[in-house]
Amino acid sequence: MGSVSLVHPWILYFCIAFLTCYVVLDLIANHSDLEFPDLLSCSSSSSVLLGNSNASGGNAVVDEPAVCRTLEGHLDIDLASLRQKHVDLNPQTVPSRQAEDPWRQMKWVGPAATCRVRGHLIERLDPALNFRRGFSLRFASDVEDKTHLLPWLLPSRVNLNNRRRRVYLDLGANAFSTSITWFLRMYPVDFTEMHAFEVDTHLLRKPEAGFNEGSNYAPPNQWSKMLKETAGVPSWMLSRIRVYNQFVSDGDDALQNAVNITRFMKEELSLKPEDTVVVKMDIEGSEWPILRRWMQDPDMSSIVDELFVEVHYDHPSMRGYHWARFSPTTREQALTLLADLRFHGFFVHAWP
Ligand SMILES: *[C@@H]1O[C@H](CO)[C@@H](O)[C@H](O)[C@H]1NC(C)=O
Ligand SMILES: *[C@@H]1O[C@H](CO)[C@@H](O)[C@H](O)[C@H]1NC(C)=O
Repeated sequence: MGSVSLVHPWILYFCIAFLTCYVVLDLIANHSDLEFPDLLSCSSSSSVLLGNSNASGGNAVVDEPAVCRTLEGHLDIDLASLRQKHVDLNPQTVPSRQAEDPWRQMKWVGPAATCRVRGHLIERLDPALNFRRGFSLRFASDVEDKTHLLPWLLPSRVNLNNRRRRVYLDLGANAFSTSITWFLRMYPVDFTEMHAFEVDTHLLRKPEAGFNEGSNYAPPNQWSKMLKETAGVPSWMLSRIRVYNQFVSDGDDALQNAVNITRFMKEELSLKPEDTVVVKMDIEGSEWPILRRWMQDPDMSSIVDELFVEVHYDHPSMRGYHWARFSPTTREQALTLLADLRFHGFFVHAWP
């Protein structure tokens, strides 16, 4: 038998037809702006040619496990491990597998949660570290360092800066230099309004005058300015900030000087889904009834774009901070609340 007879002529014809079909399809796909009809009948490889259209945009929605359509999916932490009294970070005493876990030993920025929220990646909740990664991992000299949250902020993926009203609500603001200053300096949105609630009039004082950046430098070098002090808030920005010396609450109570924050946001501020609304909440336990109400109210999950909450609970590791007063609320319940908020569509982070 000669070698030529090994290849049946029909196979050669098929190869030529196949390649011709491929070239024609490629020409149409890459050199024509026209929508063209399904040409699957011509070649089985056409689906490969056509199938990549979504990947190029960079916004491809990744298929998520079905469990993400349940609360359990958002609770992707082994609850049993939480029952330990506290997390031991000493490599000499913890089991080696845990000691070698970089997420527990070194990485300040935590891993992503199993389930996305509103289609976006978000950090995994880490209640074993009391939801305070930087502080627990000894990267922070103070609880207020929130650098570990930066990669997960919503406006790093969605433009929240192109809406007409851009509102920041600081509920339980404490001193001006803490969260308000952090959001002013670090959050990638230019807020047009900032509403800060702090009942203690001695704690929260808006600066009397705007900071003058123009005179804030020592003059050793005329080209690069050496700042004398960290720059403060300029006067045009101060005019956007309003301070309320009232309690943030689930219901109005004039005697207690308490404001129904849900009513305040909907009726007094008239916030709408088309506004950018970012809320930070640290209100010493009053968050529980408010957030339970918000989960039952689809208006609130569409009004609030991003939420930062300090959830208060009782746990031995937090008693040094006088958190025993939040008994009988447990850390497991705090975790469930945060997971449930995500399940209800709130893009929520533990604060601080
Ligand atoms: C591309 O995205 C659109 C809309 O998001 C969707 O309907 C379509 O099925 C996707 N195509 C592929 C090949 O994934
Ligand atoms: C707070 O206001 C909301 C919205 O107006 C209302 O539905 C809710 O009942 C109020 N809360 C209480 C405790 O009355």
